[in-house]
Amino acid sequence: MLASAFLAVSALTGAQNTAEITVHADQGGRLIPKEIYGQFAEHLGTCIYGGIWVGEDSPIPNTNGYRNDVLEALKKLKVPVMRWPGGCFADEYHWRDGIGPREQRPKMVNNNWGGTVEDNSFGTHEFLNLCELLGCEPYISGNVGSGTVEELAKWVEYMTSDGDSPMANLRRQNGREKSWNVKFLGVGNESWGCGGNMRPEYYSDLYRRYATYCRNYDGHRLYKIASGASDYDENWTRVLMERVGGQMNALSLHYYTVPGWSGSKGSATEFNKDEYYWTLAKCLEVEDVIKRHCAIMDQRDPQKRIALFLDEWGTWWDQEPGSIPGHLYQQNTMRDAFVAALSLNVFHKYTDRLKMANIAQVANVLQSMVLTKDEKMVLTPTYHVFEMYNVHQGATYLPLDLKCDTLGITMKPNIRFNEKVPVISATASKDQSGAIHISLTNVDLEKSNEVTINLPSVQAKTVTGRILTSANIDDHNTFDRPDLVTPSKFEGAKWNKGTLKVKLPAKSIVVLELK
Ligand code: AHR
Repeated sequence: MLASAFLAVSALTGAQNTAEITVHADQGGRLIPKEIYGQFAEHLGTCIYGGIWVGEDSPIPNTNGYRNDVLEALKKLKVPVMRWPGGCFADEYHWRDGIGPREQRPKMVNNNWGGTVEDNSFGTHEFLNLCELLGCEPYISGNVGSGTVEELAKWVEYMTSDGDSPMANLRRQNGREKSWNVKFLGVGNESWGCGGNMRPEYYSDLYRRYATYCRNYDGHRLYKIASGASDYDENWTRVLMERVGGQMNALSLHYYTVPGWSGSKGSATEFNKDEYYWTLAKCLEVEDVIKRHCAIMDQRDPQKRIALFLDEWGTWWDQEPGSIPGHLYQQNTMRDAFVAALSLNVFHKYTDRLKMANIAQVANVLQSMVLTKDEKMVLTPTYHVFEMYNVHQGATYLPLDLKCDTLGITMKPNIRFNEKVPVISATASKDQSGAIHISLTNVDLEKSNEVTINLPSVQAKTVTGRILTSANIDDHNTFDRPDLVTPSKFEGAKWNKGTLKVKLPAKSIVVLELK
């Protein structure tokens, strides 16, 4: 961090801050996997029912049962991959209950999430057809906690076999001739907790056993993901690397920006300045967590053959007052938008090992993209970050150096490593057409920031940009005011022979394009 005399003085006088960035456009090597922008759809609350799926007979405009407004919104995000059906739900889900004529499908109780009755009308066909409509890869999370090896093996056969096999024939009988393109297969979820309360040694053996029978059919090649650790549980990662090793293609990790696991998590929309800065520090701690798990993986797998998937992340607040207990329905403010932007900036840095991330959940639950109520839908501030940032998907990562001021935090619950929050955060990439995109955040609630960006070796003719900001940090979109927080054109960047001067307003997120 730049501890220059000027910055120290400016912080005291209330003048605007300054920062300096150098983007190394000539050092780009690896691509940012588009799967870093993955989504997660769980049978939880109204994520699926009401959020994505309303059924063909609904008065809500739909295509084959999927809400048109949500489909259109998700298409704009260019969703690369969607994980389903859970989460905790996955380890109680029995896929055979969700196929065949809908009126004949058995019901179940969703024990994890409020005891709601699940009628199984959204099952394998409905999910995989949705992925085809969105043009995204499905990521199936298999049941290890309460399902059998045979059940998971047969699900894989049902989805991916094209032969004259019993499961492929059952699929045909249910109206789908060709197999679906299913690559990502999770073998259990949070097996240390809701997925079976196992020890890592025991789960490692179970993983090996379940994974053995998940076959590659007819040209499909499964990419198998072992259920990984949460937060700081480095032992889980160590044991799996030792005992499962090369038998997994990826190991997962979960990290939530959450004040704690017991008691109140705080309101999504009512928070003070200290809680805001705590949130940023907590979300940035994901960097330390990723580094620690990567370091353990590096010891056994220096060639990075096994990927790390952060297949659940995001903010977790108290559910909205008046919403159904256990449904985890939460609002989403500019604060959440910052968590999205800062997290994505971190993820880009570790994509030598981190190959996928799935924010929880796509609709109506934790840090969602969309919220729905009957026929109405709003796009959340987090949605807007994902939409503005989608220029980075599949682009070449450009390393950068950043010098800026920091803010000390006063609250420490559930924080292990971070005491300070950098005022500016940034990431940069170059797409296939040669355009450079630089994403910048100024998290300071009061001060604008004059950012100087050096881009030696870059010859650009134009700079354009978009900004996401709002009068108050707790601003959010509601069904009555759906466009309170929405991106607009940004004209605060000036390009002059290799240097960009950017005036970033307080609490703003900007994505610039240089061509
Ligand atoms: O996202 C909500 C829950 O959080 C998921 O179902 C579970 O995997 C995690 O504990």
